[in-house]
Parts: sequence; C-alpha cells; structure tokens
Amino acid sequence: QDPNEWKVIEAHELAAKFYHYLLSNTKQGERAKHYLRERGMTDRLIDQFMIGYAPEEWDVLSRFLDGRGYPLELMASGGLLSPKSDGSGYVDRFRGRIMFPLWDRDGRAVAFAGRIIDEGQPKYLNSPESMVFTKSRMLYNLHHAKPFVRKSKSAVLFEGFMDVIKAWNAGVKNGVATMGTALTEEHCVSLRRQAEEVILCYDGDDAGQAAVHKSIPLLQSAGLKVLIAILPKGKDPDEYIEEYGPEAFSRLLDDPVSTTKFRLIYSRKSHILLKEEGRKNYLMEAVGIVAELDSSTERELHLKELSREFDVSLEALKQDCHEYRMELQ
Ligand code: GTP
Ligand code: MN
Ligand code: MN
Ligand code: MN
Ligand code: MN
Repeated sequence: QDPNEWKVIEAHELAAKFYHYLLSNTKQGERAKHYLRERGMTDRLIDQFMIGYAPEEWDVLSRFLDGRGYPLELMASGGLLSPKSDGSGYVDRFRGRIMFPLWDRDGRAVAFAGRIIDEGQPKYLNSPESMVFTKSRMLYNLHHAKPFVRKSKSAVLFEGFMDVIKAWNAGVKNGVATMGTALTEEHCVSLRRQAEEVILCYDGDDAGQAAVHKSIPLLQSAGLKVLIAILPKGKDPDEYIEEYGPEAFSRLLDDPVSTTKFRLIYSRKSHILLKEEGRKNYLMEAVGIVAELDSSTERELHLKELSREFDVSLEALKQDCHEYRMELQ
C-alpha cells in the first residue's frame, strides 16, 4: 500500500484516540458526554465505538498532528484538516462535534462523522472522500458485525449509524449502515460476501420507507434475500429502542415482513381507499405486485387477504392475477 495512505490511516487511528480521550477525560468534553448520556450512550458503548469529542477550537488536532510529524498538507487531503481560506496553513475540519470514527472492513479508522451537540446545521459533518475513504463503499460497523453476519447469514441494514450503535447495545450485533447516502451496488456486493439475507430497518418516516422501496431491487439484484422490519410512524430504530426497550426491538426484528407485503403496504399509501376509484386502483396495483410471486401458495395467501378486505371474490382476483402473469412472461 501507498505510504501516504498508511500515514493517513495512522493519523485517523491517532485522531480517534485523541478525540476519545478528550471526550472521556477532559472538562471540554463534558457537555458532549452529557449529551451522549441523555441519549442512552453508556461508557461501554462510547469505548467500543471509540466515540470522541472535537473541541470548539481551530487547531487542536492540527497542533497534535504537527507535533508528531505528520505533514499537514497530507492530513488535509486525508480530510482531517481544511486549508485556511487565505492559503496560509490548515485548520481542524471538525470543531465542537461529537466524533464517530468510520472504519474500513478491516477495522482501520479511515474517516469521521461529527455530530453537532443538540440542534444545528449540518447535523452531521462527514469526512470528504479521500484516498482511503469512499462513501459509496462505506458500511459503518462492518468489521464489528462481520462474524455475527457470517454466523447468522443475515445482516441488518440501518439508515443511521446511531441506530447501529443502539441496536448493538440491544443485542443486535449484525447491524451496519450506509453514511446517509443511498445504497449502492458496491454496498450490496460487499453485503453479499458475508450474508444471504438482509433485513432493512430504516426510519419509520416517509423518507425511510421510500428508501426501503429503492433499496429492495438493488439488494435483490445482488442475490440477497430481503426482509423488512417496519417501525411505527415517525420512529427510527434508536428512538424505538429508547421508548420500547431492547426486547421489543428484538421481537420487531424477529418478525420482519416480506418484500411483497412491504410493497403492498407502500402502494396503499398512494391511493385513497375511502373512494371507490382509489380502492379499485389499489386493488389492481396490489394484484400486479402479487402476480410477481413465483409461488402459487404465496400468491393465494395474499389474494385471499385482499379478497376478504375488499369484498371481492377470490376467483376474480385470481383471474386478474393470472392475466398479469401472462403479461410478465
Ligand atoms: P440522530 O439525530 O443523531 O439520531 O441521527 P440519525 O441517525 O437519526 O440520522 P438521520 O435519520 O437524520 O439520518 C440518517 C443518516 O443520514 C445519518 O446517520 C447520517 O449518516 C446521515 N445524515 C443525517 N443528517 C446529515 C447531515 O446533516 N449531513 C450529512 N452529511 N449526513 C447526514
Ligand atoms: Mn476509553
Ligand atoms: Mn431520517
Ligand atoms: Mn434517524
Ligand atoms: Mn435518530
């Protein structure tokens, strides 16, 4: 490997320890620590995930790295520092933020995500892409989760890395997350190397459900079986665990729905079922979704449910389903 890449990774490892120390053992870190406590982060979790604090100053990290002989220009191209606007040197990229190291699949720190304490914009600041960090490949926590994913052949995919940490604490060790960017083919390939199945556990808001809808075909194209854990409206996994506890969360993950069920629920939302036209349109869309299932038993189970709910004969639904299937061929 390129010696500059080594240096940048080494600097990230050091910076992670430095930030972690500042959070755990200094007065400057107290407000951040208090915030983390309020959010249910134990000392153990803070240690395991090497959570840290970057103080509200311009040059804490740059002086630290400079003192250890790291070339600051290289540190800037690695994303730890930013060039001053007048070109006269470098300042810390992360200031006044709670720091989460991002590791590559071998567990080497290659980037950071920094969260603002309480409210403010941007909520998260990520490292820029660099010679050691590519967002479209990053799966947060993969190095911790790998043995658990391999053993169960199943991975849980979250939207946020806070969710991964909280789920880990609740006993769900096979969780990973993308870095706020959409799921990519590279993510899927990397998941497929470890898992046969992925459980999507995105936020229970419209954005989360839309993201599930987009992620399903991508994961399936990579050869993964997909299941969906649906959260109550407006909750993300972190909030769900805080409110209902780890056992309830485990139960939620033990009983995920199929992609067909999810697509039926999702399609419902775009129709007004109180109106006859809406009911009819939904039914036809629903039958179209069911028609894609290869198993006739599974098709019948869904059609029966639709028949009961909408008071339409099973025969009529089967007939329409059959016609959809002819079109699919
Ligand atoms: P908390 O509010 O701390 O609980 O965060 P969250 O995990 O609930 O984050 P949210 O659901 O808002 O977003 C999911 C993911 O998107 C986060 O984990 C981040 O990776 C990313 N994200 C969210 N907000 C920002 C932002 O302001 N900037 C960037 N770059 N990424 C963000
Ligand atoms: Mn520690
Ligand atoms: Mn969200
Ligand atoms: Mn969230
Ligand atoms: Mn959250």
